Amino acid sequence: MGFWKSLFTGADTVPSTQLPQSGGVLAEVPTGDDRGGRIFFSTDREIDLYELEELCDAVGWARRPIRKVRKAIQHSFLVVSMWEQRGSRKRLIGFSRATSDHAFNATIWDVVVHPDYQGKGLGKTLMKQLIKKLRSEDISNVTLFADPHVVDFYRTLGFMPDPEGIKGMFWYPD
Ligand SMILES: CC(C)(COP(=O)(O)OP(=O)(O)OC[C@H]1O[C@@H](n2cnc3c(N)ncnc32)[C@H](O)[C@@H]1OP(=O)(O)O)[C@@H](O)C(=O)NCCC(=O)NCCS
Repeated sequence: MGFWKSLFTGADTVPSTQLPQSGGVLAEVPTGDDRGGRIFFSTDREIDLYELEELCDAVGWARRPIRKVRKAIQHSFLVVSMWEQRGSRKRLIGFSRATSDHAFNATIWDVVVHPDYQGKGLGKTLMKQLIKKLRSEDISNVTLFADPHVVDFYRTLGFMPDPEGIKGMFWYPD
């Protein structure tokens, strides 16, 4: 009993939920119009999942069960969302997240910017915030799966398809 207890409570064990500090505003930029307000980037995971679903609907993504989206967010290593704030009103305008082994590797998922805000450099800023945070956690191998029409978007950020001939491979159930 003592043996097992020491295995699980020893000072050198790593808690399974050792995630980067969440809840912080990472950065902000002006909205770029004359109506005031700001656009900010946050690592807070308390996101209204119906608002996130609306954002994903707006870019035509297939709907996913909310309970699974909640679980995916809970178990992600890092979430970076993008918000427009005018007065006390906040609107979710972008989202991204990364899973990780907490040491070497992270994989980026669900990168999205609302169509009303695309083409203004915000997707690039969202990705830069996510990568900066991953680098601050000493993660050096960052991967993602790009839809064919956004390969060049990721290229502008320094991502390379098939470095040294390495291919992404997939397995799907029959
Ligand atoms: C892909 C997406 C996140 C880009 O966001 P965005 O805010 O429009 O991108 P930005 O304005 O920051 O563009 C940054 C650069 O990428 C380029 N770019 C943006 N979208 C691009 C695209 N679809 N294809 C090629 N280049 C693109 C821009 O021209 C810009 O280049 P520059 O730095 O040389 O000026 C956004 O279009 C989106 O949400 N699309 C729908 C969801 C999606 O497909 N997500 C990716 C899933 S893998």
